[in-house]
Amino acid sequence: MKIAIVGTGYVGLVTGTCLSETGNDVTCVDINKQKVMMMQQGQLPIYEPGLEALFQRNIIHERLRFTDNLAEAIEHAEVIFLALPTPPGGDGSADLSYVLGAAKDIANLITDYKVIVTKSTVPVGTADKVRAVFKQHTDIEIAVVSNPEFLREGVAVEDFMKPDRVVVGTTDERARKLMAELYAPYVRQGNPIIFMDERSSELTKYAANSFLAAKITFMNEIANLCELVGANVDMVRLGVGSDDRIGKRFLFPGIGYGGSCFPKDVQALAKSAEDNDYHFRILNAVMETNAIQKKIMVEKLKKYYNDDLKGRKFAIWGLAFKPETDDIREAPALEIIGELLNEGAQIVAFDPEAANNVKYLLGDKIEYVDDHYDALAGADALLILTEWSIFRNPDFALIQKSLKAKVIFDGRNLYDLDKMTELGFYYNSIGRKT
Ligand code: UGA
Repeated sequence: MKIAIVGTGYVGLVTGTCLSETGNDVTCVDINKQKVMMMQQGQLPIYEPGLEALFQRNIIHERLRFTDNLAEAIEHAEVIFLALPTPPGGDGSADLSYVLGAAKDIANLITDYKVIVTKSTVPVGTADKVRAVFKQHTDIEIAVVSNPEFLREGVAVEDFMKPDRVVVGTTDERARKLMAELYAPYVRQGNPIIFMDERSSELTKYAANSFLAAKITFMNEIANLCELVGANVDMVRLGVGSDDRIGKRFLFPGIGYGGSCFPKDVQALAKSAEDNDYHFRILNAVMETNAIQKKIMVEKLKKYYNDDLKGRKFAIWGLAFKPETDDIREAPALEIIGELLNEGAQIVAFDPEAANNVKYLLGDKIEYVDDHYDALAGADALLILTEWSIFRNPDFALIQKSLKAKVIFDGRNLYDLDKMTELGFYYNSIGRKT
């Protein structure tokens, strides 16, 4: 099938690359000429495990192409994916100007039937808005399909190639057949392609992300309570997660959810509920609670150091909002660093992938090192903010030798409590005894 992908951000690139892998002819288009040039030369602009190999292979086999020319990209395409940013606008609702702008440009160029697929996370009613833009600018028949993505950064290729489900919102029979054909190779294990109307599909995406954000937030609050009542959240997690209705996944407490999706989507769903005169109480509580959770480590540090962090030196392991990504959007680490700097503390940080992004944002306000053990020299404590695998089984003797005091604040519960007691560390984690 001939496909065009408009927007080569994270979603567009993964979608385009993975669609070319099953033999489709994919052209990705972006307005950023420099980025397009880079991709034409075989350089992948993002870090995502497993993507590089697919990207290179499909470029070589000429199934994956890049251009900054929209007309060229869509000329032969039967299906056009819109994978454009929908950043939060001033009032918290998703800004649709990129999506609707591209719809207008495409409408002015097409000469035959096209299936227009919204892949970006868009508020309920967007398919209707896209359709209206087309109606305004062309008489050519089109179908608008909502096809939300459920990719997790770090495992996006796997999520695309073997999705739990594919959600397709359309009432157009021709589009439905094309989408069924396009996704058939990805659901061979029997996972469903769920067809529905556009509005239900658009809402499914927000409901899924908001539910997951609420699930994490609930566990974070249980963890906070565990600390107060002397329970161990690891045990509580296993106890509740073994109930199939609850499920084992996404129950790990931490220092708050971040990333480019959950914070934005929870906020946008709450806003869209308000716009429909519905006060979505749980979502408001989730946002408020998560903001507090992101500061919980700073509160613990203040308590430990009697409200005086001035001149203290902290080693930070992990800056990305989660492992296997260089993404720092809404990362708890940024919030924690900001607060610690305000308190007059000094920071030396290590992250396997995200350090450059933080450097770009914070410059020399903090120090960066290339090896995680180098961050420790003379620090008052080690703070663990992202659960990268490299931190899971460290050389504790080396940590002990380098740190000024045997103090670890762990926002991701990486270490065994008994082991830490045995080693004589002051070890403060989330929802477990100190
Ligand atoms: C999330 C969803 O999981 C994807 O299904 C969705 O497609 C994507 O958003 C999106 O809308 O594009 P992602 O943001 O990449 O994916 O990351 P997750 O692995 O879901 O983690 C989100 C946040 O929750 C992270 O800050 C992570 O540290 C936190 N988290 C996750 C926990 O604190 N505890 C957990 O048990 C799981």
